[in-house]
Amino acid sequence: MNASTRAIQGGIEAARIARLRESEAVAFLKARPKSQARIGNGAAGFFGGVPMHWMNDWPTPFPIMVDRAKGAAITDIDDNRLDDFCLGDTGSMFGHSPPPVARALRRQAGRGLTYMLPSEDALAIGPLLREIFSLPHWQIATTATDANRFALRVARAVTGRDKILVFNGCYHGAVDETMVRLKDGRPINRPGLAGEFRDLTARTKIVEFNDVTALEAALADKDVACVITEPVLTNSCMVLPEPGFHAALRDLTRKAGTLLLIDETHTISTGLGGYSRACGLEPDLFVLGKPVAGGVPASIWGMSEETASRYAAYNRAKQPGYSGMGTTLSANPLQFAAMRATLEEVMTEANYAHMENLARRLDAGLSTAIDRHRLPWHVARVGARVEFICAPGPLRNGGEADAAHVPELEAAVHVALVNRGALIAPFHNMMLVSPATTRRQVDWLVSAFDNVLDQLA
Ligand SMILES: Cc1ncc(COP(=O)(O)O)c(C=O)c1O
Repeated sequence: MNASTRAIQGGIEAARIARLRESEAVAFLKARPKSQARIGNGAAGFFGGVPMHWMNDWPTPFPIMVDRAKGAAITDIDDNRLDDFCLGDTGSMFGHSPPPVARALRRQAGRGLTYMLPSEDALAIGPLLREIFSLPHWQIATTATDANRFALRVARAVTGRDKILVFNGCYHGAVDETMVRLKDGRPINRPGLAGEFRDLTARTKIVEFNDVTALEAALADKDVACVITEPVLTNSCMVLPEPGFHAALRDLTRKAGTLLLIDETHTISTGLGGYSRACGLEPDLFVLGKPVAGGVPASIWGMSEETASRYAAYNRAKQPGYSGMGTTLSANPLQFAAMRATLEEVMTEANYAHMENLARRLDAGLSTAIDRHRLPWHVARVGARVEFICAPGPLRNGGEADAAHVPELEAAVHVALVNRGALIAPFHNMMLVSPATTRRQVDWLVSAFDNVLDQLA
């Protein structure tokens, strides 16, 4: 790499990026004297100065100190109001405190918060899950991480196989065995894992998304219990499936006796029932976390008729004892109340139509701004989930998605957008449109983005 290419990142001169980063950090601090006093030096009592270490990963000089959030807006303790397109990285995809969820929580608040027993709300949820997600048998957990863990356990139990297969660049929560990456074509433990002594590649195969030939070869030994994937990779830069990929994935997994776990935790942005319903995928196992209870920690995992009956047979034959699935606070009445309200009144066709409409507008607006500045960037979208990527596209796999990141540039754009009143996701340039998001907010974000590109390009 020579000096001139080194100085260009995502089509922008590095020196310009550095200048923007500096001036935007100054503007951020100037608008937040109270926040700086409260959290500028970290919050007392917490390791690393924050209650959860990810809070230090935002590119702002310190984490935004939230006072309140409602609908698609978030307000900090200095009274700066931000249009929220991050929405808790999908946990609040349906807006902050959707009124039906807030009402349900208030109603349940005086009736007990956890008792390890069902309630009327629980009985209402079962049929709704069947109807919306087209699978017959469900369980409730607390995080998508746990739901994935439990579903993978079922896959191993019913197939009697120990291996799983993931796609390079995947993320399914803190599920140890999915923490594998391809480096120069070889599987390795994901760099950065803390305290991981195991060679995770012993039981996890990994190929690139959209690579049907590699997938076929990896499944050929018939030792893989389960392929776990998002229908669209959303956890690096967004990678869409190429035409025919999902049909091939389903066909090859069936031929190999391998179960298919579709994790819709992010792609639920697609529409009612997620990408699986919209595109007719036929998963054996299905997972959804984050927004399924409107922001209250809850997740669901479902099984096809065949998987459930194999699992029931396995259970009848297995040694009695703890299955390794379940956590004490899972399936509590607060989750039931919030999930019922979400499924009945928030996750509706009408809300999805609004989200799709405005997300399309956002996609078009960002694309126009990128073209106007002649930048080698592109926009990718799955329903209400929109992302600008500071590299040419479309990206075909996780390897390309990883290489498409331009951390300094993305950080500069992120803070510049915050200073113009819009909050996008911290780890990549993701924006979500909620039922509460307005056209005005979308147009403002587009014009702020255009303005930031003016500064950069
Ligand atoms: C596709 C997918 N699955 C699972 C998870 C894990 O969710 P949680 O952190 O709520 O366990 C995430 C989190 O980003 C995700 O993107």
